[in-house]
Amino acid sequence: MIKYFHLTFILLSVFSFVGRVILSETHPAILKQKALKIAPHVIDSLLLVSGITLVFQGGWLGADFGWIVAKIIALLGYIGLGVVVMRNRGTIRWVAFFGAMACFVYIGIVAVTKNAFFFI
Ligand code: HEM
Repeated sequence: MIKYFHLTFILLSVFSFVGRVILSETHPAILKQKALKIAPHVIDSLLLVSGITLVFQGGWLGADFGWIVAKIIALLGYIGLGVVVMRNRGTIRWVAFFGAMACFVYIGIVAVTKNAFFFI
C-alpha cells in the first residue's frame, strides 16, 4: 500500500518538476501563484516520508541497505540540481535539468535492482 503512495508521489514529483520548467519557459507569471509554490514541497516531502516508511516497513536497515544510502545521495542531487534549474536560465539551466533527470533515473533503477553499482 505505502509502495503505491511512494510510486504516486514519484510520478507527481517528476511531472510537477518538468511542468514547472515548461511553465517558467512559456508562462513564468503563472509560477508566482502561491499554490504552485507550495505544492512541490508538499509532494516531495510526502515522497520522502513514504520512502522512509518503506525503509522501516521492509526492515531494510537490518539488511544490506547501501542502495538506500545511494538513493538518498542521488535524491539530494535531484533536489539541488532542481534548485539550480529553477534559479537559472540558458545553458546552466539545461545542464542542471539533464543532471536532475539523470539522478531521477538512477534512483529509479537503484530502487528496482537494490544495487547502487548496477552499471558495473
Ligand atoms: C526521486 C526519488 C525516488 C524515486 C524515483 C524512487 C523510486 C522507487 C521505485 C521505482 C520503487 C519500487 C521498487 C520496486 O518495487 O522494485 C521504490 C521503492 C522503495 N523506495 Fe524509493 N524512490 C525515491 C525516493 C526514496 C527515498 C528518499 C527513500 C528512502 C529514504 C526510498 C526508499 C524506498 C524503499 C525502502 C522502497 C521499497 C523497496 C522494496 O520493498 O522493494 N525511496 N522507490
